[in-house]
Amino acid sequence: MTQHAEFLATDPTTVAEAAALLRAGKLCAFPTETVYGLGADATDADAVLAIYETKGRPRFNPLIIHCADLAMAEALAEFSPLAQQVAALWPAPLTLVLPARPNNGLADIAMAGLDTVALRIPDHPLALELLAAVGRPLAAPSANPSGRLSPTSAYQVRLGFAGRVPVIDGGPCRAGVESTIIRVDGDRLVQLRAGALARSDIELALGVPIAVAEKDAAVAAPGMLLSHYAPRSQMRLNTTPRAGEAWLAFGAVPEFDGPTRNLSPSGDLHEAARNLFAMLHELDASGAETIAVAPIPGEGLGEAINDRLERAAAPRG
Ligand code: TXA
Ligand code: MG
Repeated sequence: MTQHAEFLATDPTTVAEAAALLRAGKLCAFPTETVYGLGADATDADAVLAIYETKGRPRFNPLIIHCADLAMAEALAEFSPLAQQVAALWPAPLTLVLPARPNNGLADIAMAGLDTVALRIPDHPLALELLAAVGRPLAAPSANPSGRLSPTSAYQVRLGFAGRVPVIDGGPCRAGVESTIIRVDGDRLVQLRAGALARSDIELALGVPIAVAEKDAAVAAPGMLLSHYAPRSQMRLNTTPRAGEAWLAFGAVPEFDGPTRNLSPSGDLHEAARNLFAMLHELDASGAETIAVAPIPGEGLGEAINDRLERAAAPRG
């Protein structure tokens, strides 16, 4: 990677350094099991504002608040018995949208003025260490410029923000797609975003069915703009490549004479989710105008993978 700018060679930030930055109202990126997050003290309105400015993120799009433990989460939102049942799955790549407690100390702008709040306890040792060291909830969207692919390595974070944001390097993210977002709606669970914890696995663990919010119900999860997670290249889905295109394959496929990545040669959906953004980044960088993508099965984690691919392929607004 020596051909890249100097900032890529800078030393990674330690957890102690990151905690000091965050407590002083500065931003710092950190690894989670899903993707890297761009963190700020969620109780500090100026720090949270800096997240929106750094990402170029629309202010109507609220942030996920990361908590060190259940006690921290329960101080921020009201947990019904059903919500407690789902929260028992934490730490996990799972975000819960719950009624916010009044005067919970969070900056209004972190919740984009809504009366609900999105919370999660991430399942990553460095993220948990950091949250404990800061001792405050951290607002952390994915650490990418708004509308671009989420970063699954510290390297991608540095590239995305041209080295302007310090980052704790935890290596590649284990899950590779963002958390599953579930809204607790009275006695109903509604999935607002498919993600790294498969809906079918949550249903199995809880014995409770989970409804799916309409794809374009922008009000449900304000950040689920259709054209999101966009690479620069055009995308063609459920297909095989033509000459001159790049090829994002899955499973056992014939050789292709062009830039090729295989999400999982053995057809494993966990491996495919883990590789998805990194391989899209790589094929995007290959210079091909179009990335052809093989069909991916829809079950389990395939729901989140297909969701991200459809968004990446959506017309740019
Ligand atoms: O895996 C993840 O969730 C990563 C890591 C860093 O934790 N974070 C992440 O954050 O993906 P972000 O900001 O890229 O996505 C947050 C999503 C957006 O779609 C936003 O609209 C939605 O959560 N959201 C936040 N608060 C909400 C609320 N009160 N009601 C509905 N949706 C909400
Ligand atoms: Mg994001």
